[in-house]
Amino acid sequence: MEFEQAWLNYTKKGSCDMVDQLTYICVKAQNSGQDALLKSSVAELQRAFSGFFGRQLALCRSSEADKWDSKTEHGIYLALLEGMQPESYHVYEENGEITIEASDSRGILYGVFELIRQVQTDRARKGMKIFKAPAMPLRMLNHWDNMDGSIERGYSGNSFFFQNDRILVNERTVTYARLTASVGINAVVINNVNVKDAATWLITERYLDKVRELSDTFAAYGIKLYLSLNYAAPIELGELENADPLSEEVRNWWKKRMALVFDKVPNLGGFLIKADSEGRPGPFTYSRTHADGANMLAEAAAPYGGIIIWRCFVYNCQQDWRDEKTDRARSGYDNFIGLDGKFLDNVILQIKNGPMDFQVREPVHPLFGGLTQTNQMLEVQIAQEYTGQQRHLCYLIPMFQEILKFRTYVQETDDRVEDIVSGKTFGQHNCGMAAVANTGDDANWTGHDMAAANWYGFGRIAFEPELSAEEIAKEWIRLTYGDDKQVEEALLFLLMHAWEAYEKYTAPLGIGWMVNPAYHYGPSVDGYEYSRWGTYHRADHEGIGVDRSHEGTGYACLYREPNASIYDDKERCPDALLLFFHHIPYTWKLKSGKTVIQHIYDTHFEGVAIVDDMVDRFMKLEGKLPEKPYLRMLKRFLHQKEHAREWRDQINTYFYRKSGIPDEKGRKIYGGVR
Ligand code: GCU
Repeated sequence: MEFEQAWLNYTKKGSCDMVDQLTYICVKAQNSGQDALLKSSVAELQRAFSGFFGRQLALCRSSEADKWDSKTEHGIYLALLEGMQPESYHVYEENGEITIEASDSRGILYGVFELIRQVQTDRARKGMKIFKAPAMPLRMLNHWDNMDGSIERGYSGNSFFFQNDRILVNERTVTYARLTASVGINAVVINNVNVKDAATWLITERYLDKVRELSDTFAAYGIKLYLSLNYAAPIELGELENADPLSEEVRNWWKKRMALVFDKVPNLGGFLIKADSEGRPGPFTYSRTHADGANMLAEAAAPYGGIIIWRCFVYNCQQDWRDEKTDRARSGYDNFIGLDGKFLDNVILQIKNGPMDFQVREPVHPLFGGLTQTNQMLEVQIAQEYTGQQRHLCYLIPMFQEILKFRTYVQETDDRVEDIVSGKTFGQHNCGMAAVANTGDDANWTGHDMAAANWYGFGRIAFEPELSAEEIAKEWIRLTYGDDKQVEEALLFLLMHAWEAYEKYTAPLGIGWMVNPAYHYGPSVDGYEYSRWGTYHRADHEGIGVDRSHEGTGYACLYREPNASIYDDKERCPDALLLFFHHIPYTWKLKSGKTVIQHIYDTHFEGVAIVDDMVDRFMKLEGKLPEKPYLRMLKRFLHQKEHAREWRDQINTYFYRKSGIPDEKGRKIYGGVR
């Protein structure tokens, strides 16, 4: 399959004279020829400069450096120095030379990509001095790819890691690794968290040689390969009768298995596990806890430096909709809070950003700020499962930013989610952020060309959370489409309004869902209302929302103060989350001064108007953007325009029919004659 270079498309020429004069690269490191990362760094610089300026940078070793030291020729120095923070880098200009310094070769590679970015955005100038260190130790992508080549919640074609139960390693894998590393992502899980069939065999001789090949390919770009693991592997591989984490036999089985796996794939980072969730096996079968399960694996992986990432997405998916006491939102917290401090140091709990499931708006998961003695990782989803499936544009970085900045009040300072997952709050080093990936084998990688901004942005924000969503968007536009001002303005407007628009024309005020069951695309207000999944809106003719206050399920009280009191109180709860926390009459006045029902009508009309404006602005770029991506995007934007109307009309009609309250502004709502 054909594939494009996305933001590593090095045809865009920076206008900066200083870099134009650079003619060689000098590597100041011992055995630099052996270091795959340094080799990749040199190759990337050469590729970029030949793309920008049409000529190859020559390579010299440090011993030869003098001969280049003339007034007319200037170089780029890649120097390994002791004493800097892991993965951090310095990039600076002095007397026409550029130096990239780091303590490790990953830092050098990141410095190289920084320099390339600077050139592409015309910021590589005389006197330039940049120092960067990643905020989060683990910056990870979770692919939900199946070995038959399909992708769970994949919206960009098939897998490029697997086909017909085989692992693929090819040119596309290398380009993927370059793209991923260029934004500082240092860990990748290649297979779906729902580990079934052939994927259970990834930890056996059947696949380990190929896993090794892939892990070496990744390692050359500083990326550690991880695998999702089937908790019941000892049984499903036909070797044991049970998977009880406290059984000696089971524990020994895992020890032997880990010895084999790490012997074959020494570079492997570790494993991601979804257990006791949505039908996946886990320790509950044996009346054991998640700590028992995770620690058994952690103990077996520890001698090899292996990390066990254990997901907290655990809830009862066989709920009775008539049962108003059970609250899915509580389940992650209730299942894990009592285990705080019971996990080994090489276990990380991976927590979804919200308590439900990647809705367009959710409160931050209360385990953040709840757990104080356990390694934690934030899980977000750039695969747009509930946010338009990469047919609608939804730039998610502004949402991630809000989540990262959320104050948990677990202590007086350094208490934001960002501080927790950076290791600042509790001094942890096994922590970070993971995103469920949005890539596939489509030529443009992400289905919607502009969905690549979420992949790009995720890496950038995990490395440098202080960057603004807008800065990241600008960078991505510039790198991908060059420096045309009109293109930049239009695409920036689209990206920065997309989440707001999507939220406005879909489920209102934090209630979420209202999608077609199973595939989660398009409106279906009652789609999940009488199902077993625990995702209800409880609308009747007077009002809507779930009472999660102390009088309801008590979920609001799981937060630390003052968050708990704010969420618990209808009057103080932010409008955006009101229906998540409370059952509210349609006539209730929001902080905006509007009633709930009028807010629903207004936002749905506004959401569509924003999309119309977005599409108009986009269409003015005809002839300014390369034709292929323009046409691909146009198709999606025209669909989004239509589909946003479908959302608007179904939601507005539903609430008009339920409430009988007309729109103050008399707009068309399909309520029939009353
Ligand atoms: C959602 C999604 C599933 C996925 C699950 C998970 O429920 O729809 O496809 O397996 O999340 O995160 O494990």
